[in-house]
Amino acid sequence: MRDNSDSFEASRLGRKDHWDSVYDRELSNFAETGDIGEVWFGEDVAHKMVRWVVDNIDTGARILDVGCGNGHLLLELANEEYTQLVGTDYSAQAVELAKQVAQSQGFGVEFVEQDFLSPMDVARVAGAERFDVVLDKGTYDAICLKPTDADAVQVDQGAVHIYPVSVVNSLKDSGVFLITSCNWTEDELVARFADHLECIGRVKHRSFKFGGAVGQTVATVAFRKKQPDSKQ
Ligand SMILES: C[S@@+](CC[C@H](N)C(=O)[O-])C[C@H]1O[C@@H](n2cnc3c(N)ncnc32)[C@H](O)[C@@H]1O
Repeated sequence: MRDNSDSFEASRLGRKDHWDSVYDRELSNFAETGDIGEVWFGEDVAHKMVRWVVDNIDTGARILDVGCGNGHLLLELANEEYTQLVGTDYSAQAVELAKQVAQSQGFGVEFVEQDFLSPMDVARVAGAERFDVVLDKGTYDAICLKPTDADAVQVDQGAVHIYPVSVVNSLKDSGVFLITSCNWTEDELVARFADHLECIGRVKHRSFKFGGAVGQTVATVAFRKKQPDSKQ
């Protein structure tokens, strides 16, 4: 829940044990019914991210989806002829679900375990080559709800600050970061990543009007990694 200091109280959505149990359940559902589970923010939002990638990024690009969950976003990109796709999640159950879903659809996408807040994990997955594109749909939102301790209500601000560094360290020079959030507005995302990334585009979503103000239920912003000498 948001307060006036532009922050949230920590929640179970920021805890790994929560996601492990979610994906345990979704793995069982997938085995029993073939349902791939929740597509975070819905198909329409995923579709708009895919459209932005198709319109702006070559199909040969090396693309990382951070906190990929069931891998749906990457499978949509595989369907658009993208071939160098890597999905990561810190939940082993999510990675297993994504592998099973990809296999059932005949796509050879790579899925690996990675804690995006661990510099060692980030370096291991990025390798020397790094990525042309990093995608995030809902993962930064979850990280911004990570508690300092298991039952704490305070958000782990260390995690919030490590995240942009992990994005930058995953990207090649001039690499692109595309993020969708339901907790932060477009302007808040631009401000939060301003030290390392410059905004190069915004994706329009369905809007609502409340008390005379127009807002969007989710925000999607595209960034390019700043060159060291362009850092302000
Ligand atoms: C809101 S869900 C979004 C899942 C997926 N991106 C989607 O759009 O359906 C957040 C995801 O982030 C993952 N996650 C949270 N913290 C993470 C971390 N530190 N490293 C890697 N994955 C993380 C969770 O396991 C979960 O799959």
